[in-house]
This record gives sequence, C-alpha cells and structure tokens, in this order.
Amino acid sequence: MNSVKSKLPKIGETIFTTMSALAQKHNAINLSQGFPDFPMDELLINCLQKAITDYSHQYAPMAGLPILRELLAEQWFEKHEFPIDPLSQVTITSGATEAIFDAVQAIVHPDDEVIILEPCYDSYIPAILLANAKPIPIPLEFPTYQIDFHRIYQAITPKTKAIIINTPNNPTGSIISHQEFLQLEKLFYEFPQLYLISDEVYENIIFDGIKPLSAFDYKGLRDRTFAVYSFGKSLHVTGWKIGYCIANPHLTNEFRKVHQYVTFSSPTPLQYAIYLYMKQNPNYYTLLPQFFERKRNSFLNLIQNTAWKPLDCSGTYFILLDYSSLTDQNDVVFAKLLTEQYGIASIPVSVFYQEPTDHKVLRFCFAKKDETLKLAAEKLKFISQSLCVE
Ligand SMILES: Cc1ncc(COP(=O)(O)O)c(C=O)c1O
Repeated sequence: MNSVKSKLPKIGETIFTTMSALAQKHNAINLSQGFPDFPMDELLINCLQKAITDYSHQYAPMAGLPILRELLAEQWFEKHEFPIDPLSQVTITSGATEAIFDAVQAIVHPDDEVIILEPCYDSYIPAILLANAKPIPIPLEFPTYQIDFHRIYQAITPKTKAIIINTPNNPTGSIISHQEFLQLEKLFYEFPQLYLISDEVYENIIFDGIKPLSAFDYKGLRDRTFAVYSFGKSLHVTGWKIGYCIANPHLTNEFRKVHQYVTFSSPTPLQYAIYLYMKQNPNYYTLLPQFFERKRNSFLNLIQNTAWKPLDCSGTYFILLDYSSLTDQNDVVFAKLLTEQYGIASIPVSVFYQEPTDHKVLRFCFAKKDETLKLAAEKLKFISQSLCVE
C-alpha cells in the first residue's frame, strides 16, 4: 500500500482527544476539554425545534443568512458604538476554526511567515502550514501572559505577513489590554504589509467589570483585521460549530473566496435557530460575564488554602493552576497521572507551544455544573494534601 506523504507530518492526535479519552477510560472528572456539561438555554432548544420544522433545510446563502448577519451588525453597534455593514463585512462560518483557516488561506502565501503568540489555540499552526507558510512562535511573558513587543519587533522580517492574536486567551485566561492594543496599532503603522487575525471567540466571557476590546475597535488595525467569533462559546453549544468573521469589505471579499470552497455555507437550520434566539433574547450575552465569573470564583474558593496556585484569569472559562509546590514532574506526565490515579482530567499548558515549554501549570475548564466543580475541587484538595511535602 502507498503511504501518504503527509502535509502535516508533525501533527498527531490533539491533546484534547487524548485527555478526554483518558478521562473516559478512568471515569475521571473531565475539566480538560473546553465545553459546558450543563444544558443549553431552553429557549434556544425551542428555536431549534421551530427552525427544524418551519424553516429551509437547503443551502444557506454563501455568506450566511442575511437576517442573522443583520442582527449581528446591530449587536455589534450596541457593543462597539460604530457600525459595520452586514452585507459586506459579516460572514457566517462553520465555527471559528473555519474562519481562522479561511482568513489564513485568504492572505498567506507560500514562504510567508506568520507570528503566533504562545501558548496558543492548536488550529493556528496547521492552518499556516497548509498555506505552505512558516509559523513564527513568540512566547507571551510568563506568568502575566502579556505580549512581548520587543520580541515581536525582533521577529518581523520582509516575509512576515500576519500576526494571530487571541483575546480573551485560551489557555491562559489573560486579555489583551488597551495599552497592548495601542502598541499593536503602532506596530501596524510601522509595518504596512501586516494583517491581523484576531481570535475573539471568548469576547463575551470577561470578568471583574473589564470592558471587552476588539482589534476592530482600533482604527489603525481595522482595515487589516479579520475578527473571529463563535456562537459555540456564547450560547453554550460548542457542537453547533457556527461562527463568524468580521472584516472590512476588501478582506471579506478574499475571505469569502476561500469560505465558498471550504464549506460554501453553514447549516441553515442552526443559523435560523440562532437568529430566532437573538431576536427574542437580544441581551443574552450581557449575562455571560456574571454567569462565568460566579463559577470561576466558587471554584477558586473551593481550592483556596491548597498547594494549587491559580494564575490571574480575566476571561474565558479556563483557569491555570500552578502545581510547582506539589511536584517537579513535567506537566504532560503530571496531567496524565492526575487523570489515571486521582480521577481528574486537565490539559497541560506546554502542549500549546510549538516547542514544549513547561511552566508547571495545568488548564482547568470551569464551564461545568456546580456539582462537577465541587467534585473536582474535592479531588484537587485531596491531591494537595497527599502530595504536599511542606
Ligand atoms: C481560542 C479558540 N479559538 C477558536 C476556537 C474554535 O471555535 P469553534 O468551536 O467555533 O470552531 C476555540 C475553541 O475551543 C478556541 O478556544
């Protein structure tokens, strides 16, 4: 049999699949993969039922249902206080993953370089490699996970085509501040060849009264930015895989050339169900910060006074716990041991780097029922008592 010459020879099964399978095998509490274990809003279920019975099951328009795009533009105006055009600036995709892939393919040419800030979401590197381009990883500063602009300036070459950012950030829970966006804007003025792919899928999950910022809010970035979003995160329906991209018309035009040959369009009934839901519950997203902040705080309360040391978490539904006072084992080994022997699954943060970088932190997802978080905290307390040698 001919063996295929892989286009992604270094890419194997993702750690999310590995850890979830391990969690299942050992009947562990799964705080590894980022999805809610609580049900979606009943109103959304009703909207889906209505969409399935009353609406079309044929292809949606390539750029997405116009009525949904119009609502998104209205929502955008409410949040950002400047308008976007639903026809030429909003494109519905099959999840943010597709939007990121399409944006990369739309602008990145063979041998270009794309700067990614690590730790980062795992779809960025394969998307860059499939464009025959080179990912250039720059680490975020540990433990604040702020952008190291000095290193970005050092990394920029005539081949640098784009930078991918993510705020609020998975896995770190950090956000890009106004000051950092201003620095980014300055950098973009200095390097007119650059584009920005801004992964903002957790835009609605942000805590402590912090105002969510989009790269698209900054005039110096706007014309060169693809901002990417996911209903999976905002509506607790990760399995729906519906996302969208906001970009100025000249970029949207190139973006849609890719989108129309990757998926052409995304499932019509799901788009319509989201439209119905947003129409009836336009402020749904305003409740998310409070909802997840309460979960973050109660999880942290439950594990306080243990050897697990939380890092700052300003957004997303992930929190990083530093375990360095428990063991000096590397994070992959320790995460597997916790799953197999103590029944709690997490994600080792080193896997979000191209070259494994072990700061002895694990990522835990708190988008879980209160009972799940309570059980998880009990396990973490037990581990702390069992392993702590102080
Ligand atoms: C930072 C980040 N970007 C993109 C995605 C993908 O979103 P979607 O499920 O809508 O493709 C995720 C999903 O976990 C994510 O965490």
